[in-house]
Amino acid sequence: MSTRFVIDGGRPLQGAVQVSGAKNSALAIIAGAALASEGVSILENVPQDTDVATICLILRRLGVELYFDGQGRLHVDGRTLNKHQAPYDLVRKMRASFYTAGVLLARLGRAEVPLPGGCAIGSRPVDYHIRGFSQMGADVAIEHGFMKASCQRLQGAKIYINRSSVGTTVNLMLAASLGEGVTTLENAAKEPEVVDLAIFLNGMGARIRGAGTDVIRIDGVEALHGTEYAVISDRIEAGTYMLAAAITGGKITVKNIVLEHLRSPMIKFEEMGMMIEKGVNEVTVSAPNGLHAIDVETSPYPGYPTDLQQPLVAALCLADGTSVIRETIFDRFRYVDELRRMGADVKVERETAIIRGVPQLTGAPVEVTDLRAGAALAIAALAAEGRTEIYGIDVIDRGYEHFEHKITGLGGKIIREHTTEVTDLFSHMQELNA
Ligand code: EPZ
Repeated sequence: MSTRFVIDGGRPLQGAVQVSGAKNSALAIIAGAALASEGVSILENVPQDTDVATICLILRRLGVELYFDGQGRLHVDGRTLNKHQAPYDLVRKMRASFYTAGVLLARLGRAEVPLPGGCAIGSRPVDYHIRGFSQMGADVAIEHGFMKASCQRLQGAKIYINRSSVGTTVNLMLAASLGEGVTTLENAAKEPEVVDLAIFLNGMGARIRGAGTDVIRIDGVEALHGTEYAVISDRIEAGTYMLAAAITGGKITVKNIVLEHLRSPMIKFEEMGMMIEKGVNEVTVSAPNGLHAIDVETSPYPGYPTDLQQPLVAALCLADGTSVIRETIFDRFRYVDELRRMGADVKVERETAIIRGVPQLTGAPVEVTDLRAGAALAIAALAAEGRTEIYGIDVIDRGYEHFEHKITGLGGKIIREHTTEVTDLFSHMQELNA
């Protein structure tokens, strides 16, 4: 049995939506909470999506105690962390599981973590993470699909990260916070999620300076303690709802956001004709005169985020004129085949998508290829004429909390439906042989 969304499009979305906590921040912070050898961390604004469930279950298998209390706050007790082998069955579900490598090396001096494989957005190596651990004095071997690393205590080092990488910056910050001496991360990622983690770790007693710039300095400390912290709100989820307002010809107030984190997307949204009324921590978005074509190139923060590339392409499918979108971070255009099934006119040449706006999209059965593609297909479906069935929606559940409830609250017509889709072909072999 699997599930799908059935969306009847063509209704302008109206009303207000509350943005959840940032998934990518929460994943780093939950892993970071396991660094504490004293006290318990209590985390607020943690989105209850399935990637968060995955990191929690992995940590639990490593001995960490975690639970959500009645108010939705996540309690993380790292004192009981006592196992150094991360389980493949869970790690394979999500690349951020590799954050356990930095935590285990820092806390236990030993880590055996499966190497994340390729995924739907192309090859995503962890060579920078591993090189950083080695530079900090860990003995690292790659054996049987695992990274096996050990050390006495990690040693401070000057590390140049070859390409601005969120995951590497997070993992090395986690590792270095309990290291001996000073670690400097050069060409560090500047994403708000990196800054959020640094503030959280400093609340636990870490000494991290410079997060948000491309040089981060971490003075290692002997031990960290639990603390209370509220995760920042999800800029990608916020941007997705803003685009949903524009593409459906509606008007939505997107609440609980940090406007600063959405600066470059908002510049591009305004350039394509969206009206954005800015409040203190909310925006009201509409596109009363329709959308027109723009050119965008994704790049590390503060540039236009790769995680908002797909919903933007969905919106540009209905814009007036021809847009050119260049994706510089990942191989992330597989989903355009699905948009074409809905009548979009998109051509992909290597890392560039050329989108010719069409007057109308039409509902069709489509398949989600990755998380942000799922969001793109859903907002395209909300704008399309007729019914769209979206298959593979467990991928959307990885990063959008209460997706269909939020859309329903905005007047969209979406239901989650169990399907009789054939998933286990082997069990059907018998029928064929009979
Ligand atoms: C993070 O992925 C996010 N994931 C991604 O969100 C996001 O798209 C990405 O950053 C870019 O903003 C989490 O935070 C959990 P990178 P990450 O290391 O850390 C190359 C989503 O949909 N690279 O910044 O894996 C890499 O291939 C997701 O929520 C190496 O070559 O991305 C890429 O081209 C998907 N070797 C570039 O660097 C390495 O060891 C940047 O990747 C590491 C990265």
